[in-house]
Amino acid sequence: LLWILRGRTRKPGEPPLVKGWIPFVGKALDFGKDAHKFLEEHRREHGDVFTVRIAGKYMTFIMDPLLYPSIIKQGRQLDFHEFTNKVAPLTFGYPPVLRTAFPGLWEQIKRSFQLLQGDHLAPLTESMMGNLMLVFRQDHLNGESDWRRGSLYEFCCSVMFEATFLTIYGRPATGVRHGGMDRLRNDFHKFDNMFPFLIAQIPIWLLGRTLAVRQKLISYFLPQHMAQWTNTSQFIQRRAELFEQHDELKDVDKAAHHFAILWASVGNTLPATFWAAYFLVSQVEALKVVRQEIVDVLRDSGVDFSNSSDIMLSKEQLDKLVFLESAINESLRLSSASMNIRVAQEDFSLRLDSDRSVGVRKGDIIALYPQSLHLDPEVYDDPQTFRFDRFVQDGKGKTDFSKDRQKLSYFLMPFGSGSSMCPGRYFAINEIKQFVCLLLLYFDLQLEDGQNRPGLDPSRAGLGILLPSSDVRFRYRLRSV
Ligand code: HEM
Repeated sequence: LLWILRGRTRKPGEPPLVKGWIPFVGKALDFGKDAHKFLEEHRREHGDVFTVRIAGKYMTFIMDPLLYPSIIKQGRQLDFHEFTNKVAPLTFGYPPVLRTAFPGLWEQIKRSFQLLQGDHLAPLTESMMGNLMLVFRQDHLNGESDWRRGSLYEFCCSVMFEATFLTIYGRPATGVRHGGMDRLRNDFHKFDNMFPFLIAQIPIWLLGRTLAVRQKLISYFLPQHMAQWTNTSQFIQRRAELFEQHDELKDVDKAAHHFAILWASVGNTLPATFWAAYFLVSQVEALKVVRQEIVDVLRDSGVDFSNSSDIMLSKEQLDKLVFLESAINESLRLSSASMNIRVAQEDFSLRLDSDRSVGVRKGDIIALYPQSLHLDPEVYDDPQTFRFDRFVQDGKGKTDFSKDRQKLSYFLMPFGSGSSMCPGRYFAINEIKQFVCLLLLYFDLQLEDGQNRPGLDPSRAGLGILLPSSDVRFRYRLRSV
């Protein structure tokens, strides 16, 4: 008992160990308050590699981005899925996808991710464009040409949530839009607010009404409801088919798997869309250049934009929007705080570079925290400033970033790394581009005066794109073109 309370002691060859004085909780409270600051302070004191006891777990942080490639490549002894296989079922409410209980299911789920990429991206992108246009047309492009006021985060969330939902899950049996979308989104936000606690494995019954909210969200995706939807993406159709092959899965389990995809597809995309829109609207020059780029790409393909016609932007056209892509990357750099986690499968010596290694123990977590890289002044000059063209070089996407005069293999990591990298990343970038294109083409946009740049809400640190700490008031009016 005394050993558990005191925790372990550092052995020769292991990284410096930071324990904190509260048993189990260790440094969790400090980490939760401001993870970036916490890690930077420890880096200054202990160097680029150190172990911290956080909530009873030992986490070894690798802070030097030049060491990232060797960690990402060590797949055999460092497993990602051990962590997600434990945490995701508890969070979303489905039974663990164990190989013994559901033979083949894990591999089938992994394979289904291919339906978000490659040749499948073009139809998904086309469908998203149609759905965005539908929501914009019916909710925001309805004739009035006076200035209207709104809250930017709320605006981005309502459009992106519904358009993404329609694209991934399909349309209702009758009509083109599902009823009750606002209620669904409201419940989603309630669940999302509790997401960090669920990921920290706090029992759901301690979290107020979260269980009831989750059950309501899950019930939306019961097979008898989904069977009536049309235009469902191949990705979801394939997943529904493979769940049908597993008799051991109850209907509510299948629905919980579909609900997990709802979180994956909008949980990060909504705040990411907000930050891209916010930074562009807050800088007159950036807005002008990006808007002109979109108009030029349309004109090159023979389209003269007018606000009375619907716009179609294909995957090929979106690929040409270099400044817009840079602005989105820059906003991801400033807002993302996802942690990349691997679990050590045995006691072993973790190779850091050609002449350095450290000892890690079985069950230890090895963590990369790319926010430190994203805000490193040696990599990104004036790192807190939004520069929309930071990722453009000679008219193309810039990939040449370095530290200590050495080129970095990894310089922007909002989507994770290696085998666990987000399978929806290409779709995500495309849909954010499409949203911004519509916003900039159809509207004049202004932030209302007297508002500072919103802060980053730290409650999701480590889990993805951070939400703004407050919403931003803005004005928009139909552009006269
Ligand atoms: C996993 C980020 C949008 C589907 C992840 C991970 C990150 C991430 C960091 C975990 C990877 C790791 O830990 O190494 C993001 C961001 C997005 C976004 C920043 C938007 C800006 C999407 C979209 C979809 C999606 C639109 C689907 C349509 C998934 C799935 C996983 C995942 C299914 C789990 C992969 C697995 O279990 O191996 N995402 N994501 N994501 N993402 Fe995304």
